[in-house]
Amino acid sequence: MDKFKQLILQCRSGFEKEAAAEITACLSQAGVYGYCQLVDGQGYVSFLGAEGDALYQAIENLPFNKLIYVRQWTLATDWLELDREDRVGQIRAGLEGLPDCAEVWVEYPDTTDGRELATFCRKFGSALVQRLKRDKWLRPAKGDNGWRLQLFALSGEKIALGIAPVNNASPWPQGIPRLKFPKQAPSRSTLKLEEAWHWFVPRDEWDTRLTGGRAVDLGAAPGGWTWQLVQRGMFVSAVDNGPMDEELMDSGQVTHCKEDGYLFVPEKIVDWMVCDMVDKPIRTAAMVVEWAVKGYCREAIFNLKLPMKQRYKETERCLQHIETELKKQGLHWELRAKQLYHDREEITCHLRML
Ligand SMILES: C[S@@+](CC[C@H](N)C(=O)[O-])C[C@H]1O[C@@H](n2cnc3c(N)ncnc32)[C@H](O)[C@@H]1O
Repeated sequence: MDKFKQLILQCRSGFEKEAAAEITACLSQAGVYGYCQLVDGQGYVSFLGAEGDALYQAIENLPFNKLIYVRQWTLATDWLELDREDRVGQIRAGLEGLPDCAEVWVEYPDTTDGRELATFCRKFGSALVQRLKRDKWLRPAKGDNGWRLQLFALSGEKIALGIAPVNNASPWPQGIPRLKFPKQAPSRSTLKLEEAWHWFVPRDEWDTRLTGGRAVDLGAAPGGWTWQLVQRGMFVSAVDNGPMDEELMDSGQVTHCKEDGYLFVPEKIVDWMVCDMVDKPIRTAAMVVEWAVKGYCREAIFNLKLPMKQRYKETERCLQHIETELKKQGLHWELRAKQLYHDREEITCHLRML
């Protein structure tokens, strides 16, 4: 697999440094050394310079779910300069020696320039699939260790040929779940909570973990997140001094608590605590520790608003604080974090007490 020279890591435009710091730390822990190439705002980072098949081993074995700033990854060749006359043929010629792939995605950076490639990528992907089907090159995976042929385009001519493990990469092209804004929801940030559930709660567990029961929404107004909880049949304490959407209050499932979210204590244990308050991230992390240690909730989804500088360092500090404090108490938990498509200067975290 020495035709693969780079790991392409897609991220939110403007967060290339964070994605680079994260992948460098993650790979060096696994004994893989190299360097990152990046340009601010380009929406991806290339990790280069690793020896032998180290990158192939890494993309297979490092858990993709652990990455926060990386939305999608591709193990790729050097950039190919394609001739407009026969792009499909040139890609086809480069596929020798690749593992079996069952599907083809043509990805592009999630930037203003990148999005202009959307139509080209869709059409080129279809043409390539037709050719690969004709050649009987596409094959369904045996077991669940399949690969996807994943190209990454910077223009119609400059493309990297790559692969990604289907079960260890984002299940959505570009790492972006396409969610439709529900018209009845009181605010656009409703999509953040829905996206978080898609990342953190397996779909086949939604009926058990995300249906009915009680929830607390800290920093709830006007009610986009509360709306999601109500849709899942939950009874919600919505904590915020600001006004809640009236129609949502008419559902009869919401109690508006005009209190300070950082001091709020639920009357009974709740299934979910969600928190979208804008404050120092370490303050939110400390509050989450208190909820976990006192056993106020079974699961939590909370935002960490990022500072202007040292965003990666601050992320690590907050997550480590939570882990260290819970460990001291002898608790068992799962903690994950992701910069969602709907997150701007923030990341979203999920804590589940076991
Ligand atoms: C980003 S908005 C929340 C939007 C909400 N998640 C939605 O989907 O509609 C942040 C909210 O946090 C509230 N907030 C900030 N600090 C708070 C605190 N200490 N206690 C309660 N609410 C707070 C603000 O009043 C504001 O309504």
